[in-house]
Amino acid sequence: MAALSPCDPCSYSRPDLCAVVYADLDIAVNFDKKVISGTVHITVEKKQAAAETIVLDARDLTISQVSDKDSGQELTFSLGEPISTFGSKLEIKLPNGNGKKYTLSIKYATSPKCSALQWLRPEQTAGKRQPYLFSQCEAIHARSLFPCQDSPAVKFPYSAKVTARREVTVLMSAVRLGSDPCVGDSASLETKFLQEIPIPSYLMAIVAGDIESRDIGPRSKVWSEKEFVEAAAYEFAETEDMLKAAEALVGPYVWKQYDLLVLPPSFPFGGMENPCLTFVTPTLLAGDRSLANVVAHEIAHSWTGNLVTNCTFEHFWLNEGHTVFLERKVQSALFDGDKRQMMEFSGSEGLKDLQYNVKTLNNGPYTRLVIDLKGVDPDDAFSSVPYEKGFTLLFYLETLLGGPVVFEKFLRSYIEKFTKQSINTQQWKDFLYSYFSDEKAQTALNTVDWDAWFNSQGMPPVIPDYDTTLARACTELREKWCAALDTDLSQFSANDLTPLSSIQIREFLSQLLEQEPLSVTKLEKMQEVYDFNSVRNSEIRFRWLRLGLLGHWADAIPRAIDFVTEQGRMKFVRPLYRDMYAWEDARQPAINNFLAVKDEMHNTTAGLVEKDLHLKEASS
Ligand code: BES
Ligand code: ZN
Repeated sequence: MAALSPCDPCSYSRPDLCAVVYADLDIAVNFDKKVISGTVHITVEKKQAAAETIVLDARDLTISQVSDKDSGQELTFSLGEPISTFGSKLEIKLPNGNGKKYTLSIKYATSPKCSALQWLRPEQTAGKRQPYLFSQCEAIHARSLFPCQDSPAVKFPYSAKVTARREVTVLMSAVRLGSDPCVGDSASLETKFLQEIPIPSYLMAIVAGDIESRDIGPRSKVWSEKEFVEAAAYEFAETEDMLKAAEALVGPYVWKQYDLLVLPPSFPFGGMENPCLTFVTPTLLAGDRSLANVVAHEIAHSWTGNLVTNCTFEHFWLNEGHTVFLERKVQSALFDGDKRQMMEFSGSEGLKDLQYNVKTLNNGPYTRLVIDLKGVDPDDAFSSVPYEKGFTLLFYLETLLGGPVVFEKFLRSYIEKFTKQSINTQQWKDFLYSYFSDEKAQTALNTVDWDAWFNSQGMPPVIPDYDTTLARACTELREKWCAALDTDLSQFSANDLTPLSSIQIREFLSQLLEQEPLSVTKLEKMQEVYDFNSVRNSEIRFRWLRLGLLGHWADAIPRAIDFVTEQGRMKFVRPLYRDMYAWEDARQPAINNFLAVKDEMHNTTAGLVEKDLHLKEASS
């Protein structure tokens, strides 16, 4: 398939000819119809004097009318034939005249199958009192929420007025200005929002539900259904410290508010960096703050991703690689212990994740740092490769160019230089060369095999030799289990885990996952002495279930099925379904379970699991 547009293979839009520069939404949330409808007023700016139209993306949208906001004059538009995943091209004739900027009012409605939204019935929430709505626009779902130039190259500030039944609270990826009763409709409230900083469409976000908040810092609240607010406030109490640590590295936090929203369990990601309001999965509520690195990650996006943005998702590593790099620096800064050891411990955990993903992708084209998305659904190409290969490259460069002090200064200048812009890999590289301009640094840079880093498939060309201090106890215990004979496991006891922190237990299990599968005898013994079945920490539970499935332990099947049904985080759900598919005894139970629950799942997750279970073909 050809690229949809010369600007971005995943968007029809032509921001080079005429670009969206502002959006003002006036919309209503209708839970009964599962529809959002209203008007979006978009201000567009001609980039070429000859431009006669503006090209937008739209998916499953009904467009009922387009007019010039100032004159009220109706404008002609055409909505092209939809292509699956990419939707349709929406082309609007600009008002006559030789102006440069116009504001167009588009009356529209979403469809109940809108891929950006999940609508939950009251029974599907913890409180069971009210329905719940949440969005997930990254990578290319914003076009199903409102007509827009759905390419990260296009950035625009936005304002919004959202009407919804008064029992629910509405939040967006913006500063909330306040709520008022709706004139003429006492059952509804309207809430106003303003996002003054230009953002790409994928950062548009909305939630509506029976949620409450608790203050967790001077610029932060945590929001969730009231059943989780206390737990969430405890879990994320380090938020302000993380914000300060990030600011110390890369400069002031410019988005004013940094709130967290804990979503219902079907939220498909660990976290999503919606500006002013990070979305997180409830699977982070471990009770001991051990999974808060996800918050550090989303905080880091406030600079890398949300200020400096990849121009297309082919350069997604610029967003995620830099963010993982910063995340780990923030996490290390908060670690009370040797900070460098922590950074390298996380790096080595990431490397294992990378190895697993490279293997599942068969060393294929999506294992390249810079990928080709022509005709490809970015959800299909998603993996931890851009995260971990990106991190590995930055870690390698940091060492090569003189260490953290030098490299952190570079990062700060990189953000300053490209703030509020969208860039590609070449621009990143050109800036790197211009920043490190002295002869010694240039000589070092010239030893880098750029083509291999950017374009080769499989593992990175250079793999760092990470410090293993924090992993040592995990490695020793893992070696003991691997060397032991099934007939003599008496040496193991609950005390083995006493000296290990939660992340070290996770490391122990990750190491076992790299080895030959454990025998059922060993798995049963491990359960007897460590009782991993009772651990609620989702990262530990996930690895333990995988070990059970890979070791063909029948006990693991119903427990894995429970886990993939209780929560919908794709990082957990997809590998577990794939493991079940790969083992004959688990395959049919997995398929049966999926078919029974798929209508309750998030549609993105359901679509991808369907492919994992070979019930549908993957794109391209
Ligand atoms: N921006 C991503 C989530 C995302 C990526 C959604 C692509 C849709 C398409 C978010 O910042 C993220 O990376 N989340 C990770 C956090 C982890 C790396 C700490 C996750 O969800 O697990
Ligand atoms: Zn991220």
